[in-house]
Amino acid sequence: MDAAFRESHAEQTSYFKDKEDSCGPTSLMFSVKEGVGTLTGALEIFKQHGISLSFIESRVSQSKTDCYEFIVSCQNINGHTNNIIHQLKERMGSDVLILSRDKNQKHASTSHGSAFDGVFSAPWFPRRIDELDQFANQILSYGAELDSDHPGFTDDVYRKRRKYFADIAFNYKHGEDIPIVDYTEDEIKTWGTIFTNLVDLYPTHACREFNRVFPLLQEHCSYKPDTIPQLRDISNFLHKTTGFRLRPVAGLLSSRDFLAGLAFRVFHATQYIRHSSKPLYTPEPDVCHELIGHVPLFADPAFAQFSQEIGLASLGAPDEWIEKLATCYWFTVEFGVCRQAGKLKAYGAGLLSSFGELQYCLTDKPQFKTFEPSVTASQKYLVTEYQPIYFVAESFETAKRKLREFCKQIPRPFAVRYNPYTESVEILDSKEKLVRLSAELQADFSVLREVVEKLSLSS
Ligand SMILES: [Fe+2]
Repeated sequence: MDAAFRESHAEQTSYFKDKEDSCGPTSLMFSVKEGVGTLTGALEIFKQHGISLSFIESRVSQSKTDCYEFIVSCQNINGHTNNIIHQLKERMGSDVLILSRDKNQKHASTSHGSAFDGVFSAPWFPRRIDELDQFANQILSYGAELDSDHPGFTDDVYRKRRKYFADIAFNYKHGEDIPIVDYTEDEIKTWGTIFTNLVDLYPTHACREFNRVFPLLQEHCSYKPDTIPQLRDISNFLHKTTGFRLRPVAGLLSSRDFLAGLAFRVFHATQYIRHSSKPLYTPEPDVCHELIGHVPLFADPAFAQFSQEIGLASLGAPDEWIEKLATCYWFTVEFGVCRQAGKLKAYGAGLLSSFGELQYCLTDKPQFKTFEPSVTASQKYLVTEYQPIYFVAESFETAKRKLREFCKQIPRPFAVRYNPYTESVEILDSKEKLVRLSAELQADFSVLREVVEKLSLSS
């Protein structure tokens, strides 16, 4: 039950209140004619508006002869965007692609419907993993704020504790070690109650991938009733298995930001625990939900890939597509059910971390439908009750294939690919990049062919 994915139902509870995004970072991509002083002329436009640039990259244009293309990142373009676009077009004859976090910025996937001919606009998204720092604290609600019906609302000790955890996350930066938390006896007791109740259900109710990883976590990450595992240890474990990392989060991220983290195999996780008065209930994700529900499957390669695909599809996607992707996430990563050896099994974190719903979801009470992204993406859902409908995946591979096909409809003027060597997202929009990608794939394919040949000879 990730915070981010309750956003579309924010009106149901004041805890999940919406907050207007600030302008934040903006990137512009534009082309200029080759020639002495042309780049200087373009940069002069930014200088005249007092805009400081934090990043600039250039390349030979693949679509226009005698032209160079530039991508620049600005921090304070708010209020100047239209003037700058206008001047880039007037003075430099540039086409412009805007990547912006400004909600007032019109996002159009093509020049049609845009404010300017030749202007392409898309929501800003991080290109490098350390750019997750830029939105990690743009949260919809701070973790220390509690709604009046929250079990810990009148408990001052609990509220102070929540602020402690929120502050850890608020000050966290990419690349740092996640601070080790000294959990209290009361918190460990709550964890122990949840852990003990759930582990007995897993052999019969959890999917085989979950049951394969869970013993590894018991062995390597202190998954046991009398210890709350540390985010740092688990993050290191995941990074060694599938490249996934955990990152502490201070409050509720927007769906767009949460999904962007997945594109980099980064999962934003809460570190606090639910109130001890109701150990089997939590109105929001807590460390039990993240570590017991989510973490095991992020150590499964196929599931990790599926999660990253949702994240990559979200980068630069229009708002309506973010909602579709968030809904697909809800019915898979959060509340997904799969069929294995003819039986339904749970793989969603919201199920695997809920003693009640894990039992309910495999009974004949709910309705089951086949996971089809085009249908699933439009399904309304409840956040405060057990789900009346679950979508069944035949396998993570099948789900990934279907999702990939569905996401081809996302109207954005580029494709993206994650480069694990540079931990960055590449925008695939030129022949040059496709040639490079093709060479890399051929190298991988050559290794695959060699292995197949060797195995054939040995059999
Ligand atoms: Fe979750």
